[in-house]
Amino acid sequence: MKVLVIGSGGREHALAWKLKQSPEVNQLFCAPGNAGTAELGENVAIGASDLSGLARFAKQNHVDLTVVGPDDPLALGIVDLFQQQGLRVFGPNKSAARLESSKIFAKELMRSANIPTARAQTFYDATAAHWYCGQTTFPVVIKADGLALGKGVVIAPNEVTARSTIDVMMKQRKFGEAGMRVLIEECLTGTECSLHALVDGEHFRLLQTARDHKRAFDGDTGPNTGGMGAFSPANNWSRELEAQFEKQVMAPLLESLRTHGIAFRGLLFPGLMITSEGVRVLEFNCRFGDPETQAILPRMKSDLLPLLNATIDGKIDNYSIEWDERASVTVVMASGGYPDKYETGKTISGLDDAAKVEDVQIFHAGTKRMNGNIVTAGGRVLAVTALGSTVEAARVRAYEAVSRINFEGAHFRRDIAMSAGAR
Ligand code: AMP
Ligand code: GLY
Repeated sequence: MKVLVIGSGGREHALAWKLKQSPEVNQLFCAPGNAGTAELGENVAIGASDLSGLARFAKQNHVDLTVVGPDDPLALGIVDLFQQQGLRVFGPNKSAARLESSKIFAKELMRSANIPTARAQTFYDATAAHWYCGQTTFPVVIKADGLALGKGVVIAPNEVTARSTIDVMMKQRKFGEAGMRVLIEECLTGTECSLHALVDGEHFRLLQTARDHKRAFDGDTGPNTGGMGAFSPANNWSRELEAQFEKQVMAPLLESLRTHGIAFRGLLFPGLMITSEGVRVLEFNCRFGDPETQAILPRMKSDLLPLLNATIDGKIDNYSIEWDERASVTVVMASGGYPDKYETGKTISGLDDAAKVEDVQIFHAGTKRMNGNIVTAGGRVLAVTALGSTVEAARVRAYEAVSRINFEGAHFRRDIAMSAGAR
């Protein structure tokens, strides 16, 4: 099979790395890819949001399966376009991807299906949102309705922050159309957990759980990022919570999608808050998590390709997934300054030496080849994953590998998975 992976991050390198191990895959393309994916297959210089360019490439090169990494092309309808052209593709169609691309749509669906989530109000204009700020108690969480590169969620501790956030989103339109409508919701307390499910329209299979570290700096301080590290399995998950999650979230969600005439076929990634009252859904993502994927896939023993195919064909209930019992820890190395301004083009050294650490896998994100060197080309640069008999053992290995890698301004958190036992 010829497989095309769309995207250029660490998640896409991990997907490409896992798919390349399938005996059925004999050619791999990545669009646009990074220096890591270039070692596994052929990078194709087509952007992840150039839908017609991607479809043309898939057709001309007789690609048998396209796997979509990021959310943007899904929200733009890449799956609908590929299907119209008779091309096989993994991911939800545009209508199903609204679970992620419209937080208001997701919230209304959860409300009507009685899925436990934070209480929320929807606002279509700034005046009404400001009025609400005068009535409510704080903190609140303000969410832009649409996709905003992971920056559309603000926890407002007080009225002043809430009002300025409303103005930034709804009046100044910092996130464009995505912030025209907002949700203001109850701020939940608890610990977070990332779930991944292969959903085939009717049935689902859960992958192993993970937790990510969203803040830029140690001790969960600093601005929110795409994710500075992850570990798997999550230490706040249990059989009881899984049963609750399947009964209270997955079953009513699938039922509700069915009644709305929406067939969700792809990877569903609910972000959960485990509160003292049980599981609450914070959000639905319609794609693999980044960096969760880099922590989860190295633990997957099964071949990923047949699982993706079964998801597309509505047959995931015929499959079970085998896992490595060991834990994994993923440390993200980012460019200095990320998630704000950062420089690129810095030469990365020590990659080969780092790869020699036992049970370590280095996934590239913002990297590219230049004059025979691998240089930085983005905010998140590398995701270094290690397996170990315990989270602690995996953590020690991951940091040993990280210590062997250098580039100017490199920034990484030193406490990924650190308090995993205690939290
Ligand atoms: P989301 O994109 O909706 O997952 O939001 C990003 C992050 O904001 C989440 O991972 C949480 O850390 C936080 N968050 C979102 N909604 C809430 C909420 N209702 N209460 C507390 N924290 C939240
Ligand atoms: N790590 C969170 C996400 O991929 O949305």
